[in-house]
Amino acid sequence: MTRTVYLNGEYLPETEAKVSIFDRGFLMADGVYEVTSVLDGKLIDFAGHCARLGRSLAELGLAAPCSDADLLAIHRDLVQRNGLTDGMIYLQVTRGNSGDRDFAYPPADIPPTLVLFTQAKPGMADAPAARTGWKVISIPDFRWARRDIKTVQLLYPAMGKMAAKAAGVDDAWMVEDGDVTEGTSNNAYIVRGNRIVTRHLGPEILHGITRAAVLRLAAEAQMEVEERPFTIAEAQAADEAFITSASTFVMPVVQIDGVDLGSGRPGPMATRLREIYLDEMRKAAI
Ligand code: PDD
Repeated sequence: MTRTVYLNGEYLPETEAKVSIFDRGFLMADGVYEVTSVLDGKLIDFAGHCARLGRSLAELGLAAPCSDADLLAIHRDLVQRNGLTDGMIYLQVTRGNSGDRDFAYPPADIPPTLVLFTQAKPGMADAPAARTGWKVISIPDFRWARRDIKTVQLLYPAMGKMAAKAAGVDDAWMVEDGDVTEGTSNNAYIVRGNRIVTRHLGPEILHGITRAAVLRLAAEAQMEVEERPFTIAEAQAADEAFITSASTFVMPVVQIDGVDLGSGRPGPMATRLREIYLDEMRKAAI
């Protein structure tokens, strides 16, 4: 099926949407993005993704391409035009096309490039992987130091994903100065008893929108939450582990660097949090 995508004010067949070779997103990874999941045709935590987009844009001095209300309308249009039931909407804003290559930012009147497209993922809330859990390896975190800005510089995370595939596992957890930062495209957690441990917010990690909701829901469910760094050795000795992201929700992790966690099966806390998260988010979806 040919998707209908959005590019700078127009809805177009995906084969007809074209961006200039001089676009700074293409030449310099000078752009930011968001991924919002869609369940039953409704947007999950749109307000959270919109707020983070605003922050990423502001951190890079990028102009907002349109209002939040316009963004919501475009998201909804794309869901409708593509008959999307379950999946994601990818949004990217770049610093646009200044007509040449130059390290200096172009003049402020060069409009940003705004692209959105849908990705169908039928039955994504019932992913079979959630019943068996992910296996991960650890790799050094060689990314730049402003990971709190959701930029499109994703080469190192892509290399990490490929290293995981080559090792026959699902993902890689990145380690810096002895502590886990996050997964290639998700936030990382371990569980000991009733206590969830996840790295504190800072420039070292992306401030996950799913993370914020899961920590709030965990506290409401009387789970203890501790925000601090942890090591791979501590994770391997934990009862459970899991990751969160807009595209995987809460996904149990059952093995780290070849060491099974607990029983080697998804743990009760991760399983429960996945259920609570999906229930609550479906209720609040717009
Ligand atoms: N990735 N950390 C990193 C490095 C990420 O790329 C992501 C999201 C997250 C989780 O953030 P959120 O809960 O807001 O999705 C954490 C998206 C899904 C992606 O790149 O596809």
